Amino acid sequence: MRLSGVSKRYGRISAVLAVDLQIGPGEFVWITGRSGSGKSTLLNLIGGLETPDEGEVLIDSHPVWREGNISEHRRKLVGFVFQHHLLLPMLSARANVEVPLIGAGVHRRERARRALDLLAEVGLTDRAEHRPEELSGGERQRVAVARALVNEPRLLLADEPTGALDTATSERLLDLLFSIRERHRTTMVMVSYDPLVEKRADRIYRMLDGRLEGPLQSGAQGAPAAIVTRTPPS
Ligand SMILES: Nc1ncnc2c1ncn2[C@@H]1O[C@H](COP(=O)(O)OP(=O)(O)O)[C@@H](O)[C@H]1O
Ligand SMILES: [Mg+2]
Repeated sequence: MRLSGVSKRYGRISAVLAVDLQIGPGEFVWITGRSGSGKSTLLNLIGGLETPDEGEVLIDSHPVWREGNISEHRRKLVGFVFQHHLLLPMLSARANVEVPLIGAGVHRRERARRALDLLAEVGLTDRAEHRPEELSGGERQRVAVARALVNEPRLLLADEPTGALDTATSERLLDLLFSIRERHRTTMVMVSYDPLVEKRADRIYRMLDGRLEGPLQSGAQGAPAAIVTRTPPS
């Protein structure tokens, strides 16, 4: 996945400014930064939920926006997990996980099978027919993770997935995301404040007023990379 010179403005605000970023298959990149620094906008640009004003987002060398098939791209390649689970309240956990498959031409029985497989993977087999209000916060996020994976995306984008969870539940959700990443070889970009993420990241970046700084350090793998930061020493 490659971003070159990507910018996005909202009126006078440059939410994302001239961002270059390249992420290889199976990598885990963590993006931190203050509220309002442009993290969600950046993730939405990567995932095709927003159009860039300038620059290009390429996945597998294909421009995400020029082909005019953004929804196809999103459905096949990208899974999203947000801070708030955004599950549909009237539907069971299983039916929520199936939602992205509706309209993808997947037969009803096959949809249910895949949803149940994923609910098993996130440890919620016995909650499959429960509605969101009958689940804990951590369980809802696990359903949201299963939903994000149901199309077998190559790229998992997580926007503050632990933001609404307590520490122990956050730790379990991160364990789950990382075991999924190992098993499925999914590339993962996570936006988070959560310091629990740091030790697991391959690369760490920071957003500051729409600009992307870094890599700040290499986390889990290899020798530390050069520290590239434009923040003046205090
Ligand atoms: N849809 C929108 N319309 C107008 N301004 C927006 C919109 N989305 C984000 N912004 C602004 O862009 C900046 C970056 O927002 P965001 O990407 O949500 O930051 P973060 O996720 O780091 O908190 C903020 O100043 C925010 O107010
Ligand atoms: Mg945000």
